[in-house]
Amino acid sequence: MNATEAAALRGLAMEAVRACEDGAVAAARLAGRGDEKAADQAAVDAMRTALNQIEMRGRIVIGEGERDEAPMLYIGEEVGTGNGPEVDIALDPLEGTTLTAKAMPNALAVLAFAPRGGLLHAPDTYMDKIAIGPGPGNEVVDLDASPAENVRKLAQARGVTPNDITVCVLDRPRHADIIASLREAGARVNLISDGDVAGVIYTTRPATGIDLYIGQGGAPEGVLAAAALRCVGGRMQGRLVFRNDEEIARAERIGVTDRDRRYELNELASGDWVIFAATGVTRGALVGAVAHEEGAQCTQTLLMTSFDRSVREIASRRLSE
Ligand code: FBP
Repeated sequence: MNATEAAALRGLAMEAVRACEDGAVAAARLAGRGDEKAADQAAVDAMRTALNQIEMRGRIVIGEGERDEAPMLYIGEEVGTGNGPEVDIALDPLEGTTLTAKAMPNALAVLAFAPRGGLLHAPDTYMDKIAIGPGPGNEVVDLDASPAENVRKLAQARGVTPNDITVCVLDRPRHADIIASLREAGARVNLISDGDVAGVIYTTRPATGIDLYIGQGGAPEGVLAAAALRCVGGRMQGRLVFRNDEEIARAERIGVTDRDRRYELNELASGDWVIFAATGVTRGALVGAVAHEEGAQCTQTLLMTSFDRSVREIASRRLSE
């Protein structure tokens, strides 16, 4: 990539930050009100307005839903000014609607940019996922191995004992066997109530103490998490999960032909470059909450970019007009 292209992508990355900040600020106003839909809608409206101001020919590939069920930021919607680079977009203006409605930690406004075709068109189904950040031994983890086997192999590869491995898992009844298998192997299980994009990113941040992410969550969230991992390295595998014919039809409509396919990290987020941004709505382990200070709105954003393999923590203070 030449210097001009890199400079253009740095500009696009800052636009991604601004769109996430706008989504987060709008959602945060409704934190703790018990109204998931209102918080989500506020984030969608704000992020969409910001995206439409960006000099790009943007296309939503992971969005709020299919066109007939989501009036805004639906899959296939074109956003941006209509000039500039072609960009595929995965987004979740409010990742953690329940967390926000209950003012619980770790709700984020999230988006990823990549060149055309650079992000998997994942249907709105579940996905079985395993993910780990960059680091020694991460090549041993495997979606098709049992959770206990993964822990044992990872511990061995890292020269530690299974007791030293912490695995993040969504706290759901469907994960009872995974949790039992992990504990049986001696691992620590860090349960989260929601938000598995953050769950995957934790594995890239040593301060969280989380080594590995395992479990079944949204497929769209899987692509978003993969976009983040692509920027810093690591390993992730995912496989779509279908619960009924309607979900199968949904996948077929967007071109999924092999329903059993195991996707690798660079197939989930394959672009030559990837930009990932996440702004905190409520306080969290990755970024802080939106805060209102005298005459200013303060936000914290994690910006990850593949083209310069960078992670930036951006604290913004926007003065009120
Ligand atoms: P929402 O923001 O749509 O509430 O999703 C939160 C989330 O926890 C995701 O992070 C995760 O992938 C998915 O829901 C898990 O789905 P479920 O709640 O059905 O187990």
